[in-house]
Amino acid sequence: MGSYLSTYSDWQSDPQAFWAKAAGAVDWIDPPKQVLADSAAPLFRWFADATCNTCFNAVDRHVAAGRGDQPAIIHDSPVTDSKTVITYTELLDHVSRLAGVLAARGVSKGDRVVIYMPMVPEALVAMLACARIGAVHSVVFGGFAAHELVVRINDAEPKAVVSASCGIEGQRVTAYKPLLDEAIAQSRHKPDFTVILQRPQARAEMVAGRDIDWDKAVAGAAPVDCTPVGGADPLYILYTSGTTGQPKGVVRHNGGHMVALLWTMKNIYKVEAGDVFWAASDVGWVVGHSYICYAPLLAGCTTMVFEGKPVGTPDPGTFWRIVEEHDVKVLFTAPTALRAIKREDPEATYLKKYDLNGLQALFLAGERADPDTIRWAQTHLQKPVIDHWWQTETGWAIAANPLGIEELPIKPGSPAVPMPGYDIEILDDSGHPVAPGTLGAIAIKLPLPPGTLPTLWKAEERFRKSYLDTFPGYYETGDAGIMDEDGYVSIMARTDDVINVAGHRLSTGAMEEVLAAHPDVAECAVIGIGDKLKGQSPLGLVCLNAGANRAEDEIEKECVALVRHEIGPVAAFKKCFVVDALPKTRSGKILRGTMVAIADGAAWKMPATIDDPTTLDAIAEQIGGLGEATS
Ligand code: COA
Ligand code: AMP
Repeated sequence: MGSYLSTYSDWQSDPQAFWAKAAGAVDWIDPPKQVLADSAAPLFRWFADATCNTCFNAVDRHVAAGRGDQPAIIHDSPVTDSKTVITYTELLDHVSRLAGVLAARGVSKGDRVVIYMPMVPEALVAMLACARIGAVHSVVFGGFAAHELVVRINDAEPKAVVSASCGIEGQRVTAYKPLLDEAIAQSRHKPDFTVILQRPQARAEMVAGRDIDWDKAVAGAAPVDCTPVGGADPLYILYTSGTTGQPKGVVRHNGGHMVALLWTMKNIYKVEAGDVFWAASDVGWVVGHSYICYAPLLAGCTTMVFEGKPVGTPDPGTFWRIVEEHDVKVLFTAPTALRAIKREDPEATYLKKYDLNGLQALFLAGERADPDTIRWAQTHLQKPVIDHWWQTETGWAIAANPLGIEELPIKPGSPAVPMPGYDIEILDDSGHPVAPGTLGAIAIKLPLPPGTLPTLWKAEERFRKSYLDTFPGYYETGDAGIMDEDGYVSIMARTDDVINVAGHRLSTGAMEEVLAAHPDVAECAVIGIGDKLKGQSPLGLVCLNAGANRAEDEIEKECVALVRHEIGPVAAFKKCFVVDALPKTRSGKILRGTMVAIADGAAWKMPATIDDPTTLDAIAEQIGGLGEATS
């Protein structure tokens, strides 16, 4: 085992040797000769001269090693009242046939495939089928509306879209296919074909000549083998929210991704082949990519695919029922899910009904884990409750408590210490490191480790501008925080227009673009205010055009409906107020931070740079105390 400090200093003293050793866990076709290509610094590529196949490592090699009869995926779906087990042998069959369906219709290495699916095993099958033939998948979260799908289709230019007829949200059946049809109708780029999984809860109308029925196509397909790809060839693009309505296409390469994820399974999560790993997230998010699909399968574990909610499907005991029933060793979820459970089961009455002895630890990520929630979980589970911090961009934890190396003391409110590969510094505005305990921008010294983003899809300039230009020599995380004397980091806030609602990363800038398109809206601002359950929730403030003489509450309702229609229900945009004026500095910058403090009932001062103090006083009357911050 060793200690965290010795592992971290091993990495520091020779980063390339550290990752070369970790690369031994991958079955390469041609192993890497060069670990890191740095000739284009500050752009870096890991294992670029190797050839490999991610699907082979996640599926085929386990069957070859005798794990064919082991469950690869367990689908537990309280919303459809079904449970399905798929062994590694069955997974290999499903994946190689779907790969055959795609390949037979012209999808090949480097082509993009958009996947828009609910939490069914076929979502993982589709991702792996793309990986198998070297195609680049781009999964779009089901809670996004047609417009968001359009933006992603136009940017990724997929040859095919793989989707399903519907998803099930609690008690509600959500038809996916009409959204997909609307998106394809609106998009500039048209995919050649779609593959649609027909679910019995709502069957989809098929477009002749374009839509292919998943079951029929797979039944008649010839399985295909793995296509060798380069270590620095893209495995996927995952779009994530940035400052504007145009999301950032985070690119993930094959080689470094496998190396990093395999390292984390052993050293952070402390699991081995045969263990059951459950990330209760969604395949549409990075947590789902890394820890529902790829990492558990690369490591030969059994991965859980859960189609349900932490509460209401049917009760707040669902998580604990699943842990007991499927012998889950590690559970990974967002703090919001725990807050939802805690709210309905404060005394843990449901939790106590289940035998949770097999659970080794609970990992939390995706948003700040408030100390109250951590303590509640610690008290009732009597297991390590580990907060860890990461981003879509990194694909794995930047800071964590590495259980597989050494269980460090837990400090509630902090996701612990930097992982090997990440040299974290807290910088002031001019890029100088600050003293321990001082708030600043969190930056990571380049190069970032394997598995992290090498660039943005077709947007290298935006990549440089968004992440590399502010602090030369560093990656700018977009998070602000502090590091204490022991090297523990705490993540306090975003430095950009990203908010985090129920563990979902959303752009207030994107919502503002939607509101600005309302015919009566002259100007607007969207801010993230405190929400006891979801961490943050968006609040819209709109000023109307002179001459707009319709009822204000009608316009407010239209604004709410517009954001739901354009971005999707996941935006959880439910509050919007008409205001006379937005408070601004003399240079015209909207005072968003001050408005958040006012809404959350925090201490605030009239900014010296304000143009017209009466605007802020008026806003304070309207939104003061609307927010409810967590501890
Ligand atoms: N497809 C379609 N709609 C979706 C969706 C999906 N995949 N995911 C969410 N939605 C909808 C929800 O039904 C809800 O619709 P509504 O406004 O009609 O009620 C809306 O989007 C907002 O969703 P959410 O913010 O998740 O709220 P919720 O009330 O449905 O659930 C929680 C609240 C706390 C139970 C839920 O947010 C949760 O489990 N969070 C954990 C988050 C998580 O795992 N994040 C991943 C990052 S690690
Ligand atoms: P995403 O890219 O969706 O994973 O969101 C990444 C952002 O979520 C980070 O930049 C943080 O702002 C926030 N985040 C993720 N994990 C944590 C954590 N453990 N503590 C605090 N914030 C977190």
